[in-house]
Amino acid sequence: MHTHNRRTFMLGATATAAALGLAACGGEGAGSGGPDPEAEPSEQTVGVAMPTQTYERWVADGNNIKEGLEGKGFTVDMQYAGDDIPTQQQQIDQMINSGVSALLIASIDGASLSSQLDAAAAAGIPVIAYDRLLTDNENVDFYVTFDNYTVGVNQANALLYGLGLLDEDFEEAEDAPEGPLNVELFAGSLDDNNAHLFWQGAIDTLQPYFDDGTLEVLSGQMDIDQAATQRWEQETAQKRMETLLTTHYGSGEELAGVLAPADPLSRGIINALQNRGMGPTIEEGLPVVTGQDAEIASIKLIADGVQHSTIFKDTRNLAEQAIVASESILNGEEPEANDTETYDNGMKVVPSYLLDVQMVLQDNYQETMVDSGYYSEEQVESGQL
Ligand code: GAL
Repeated sequence: MHTHNRRTFMLGATATAAALGLAACGGEGAGSGGPDPEAEPSEQTVGVAMPTQTYERWVADGNNIKEGLEGKGFTVDMQYAGDDIPTQQQQIDQMINSGVSALLIASIDGASLSSQLDAAAAAGIPVIAYDRLLTDNENVDFYVTFDNYTVGVNQANALLYGLGLLDEDFEEAEDAPEGPLNVELFAGSLDDNNAHLFWQGAIDTLQPYFDDGTLEVLSGQMDIDQAATQRWEQETAQKRMETLLTTHYGSGEELAGVLAPADPLSRGIINALQNRGMGPTIEEGLPVVTGQDAEIASIKLIADGVQHSTIFKDTRNLAEQAIVASESILNGEEPEANDTETYDNGMKVVPSYLLDVQMVLQDNYQETMVDSGYYSEEQVESGQL
């Protein structure tokens, strides 16, 4: 049911597998990896592979994980891959060769690390997928993430609320506009399993409104393939929005809302809309744009009435879960899961620990983001960390 991308990078993967086969075979004794519950924590190294530093959250995730693991006395080898798949493959190869005790991986392309996962298994190194599912390979031991389907449901509900179709209790609004209201849809990167879950949750929620004609997508681009944003790049989303506007909204057609799956994309889309003279605020006619990740620049835009909503996923809690799971694994125990059904990676259902998510709107950003201590008043005012 939960789609994932089956594409693999066979050429690169085969060459690396050959190289790694040797390393893994010779790996008994010194340099061999895997947990050793008898060892001092500092003798156990956790390899942490992160995708990119261009999204605020991955920087926070990395810092929190490193601090947390080191706080428990473990050694950490953390690498960012600059959103480049071969770089991430090499970084993980190196971690395996150096004999790490466990791997924590936030992939760029969830299906591109098969030879690394095979090599890790051969060397006895357990693998935890961090936030993004590793697909098409059985050598994935555990998965920590948020409830990704619910992220999509919340994004769609926020859009419906912003359009006046749902009231503040998220029930059908009594004074709902009849429509048709025009919306456009954006998705994330197709090689990220999460993008499919966000999309599915959102589309399932919006479908009844498409069916009864309340909502329309004038461009007709309603497939995830058409809506996708490769590598989650802001620039790509901004360009697509510009093209949609010039192609479909030239002659007085009004755009009411945009489903956007992550804050940097939301800001690119908002740039495109404002460059066409819309807004600058929602009150002044800017379409309702959703988001995700509660990045500081977007929280400011929400406070200012420019971006309509985002989804807050507290990455401090995710890092904490990853550390709890790593500790279990390093102690030779099985990590505690709270979902053993949802995350089928194409080869196995990966036992998972899912965390809750929260919708953020102008009505509640103060409470969710400031009163909670996540951001300071000054940070929200300046839009900077
Ligand atoms: C997803 C992640 C989101 C967002 C996006 C782009 O996998 O769940 O929080 O950050 O990647 O980086």
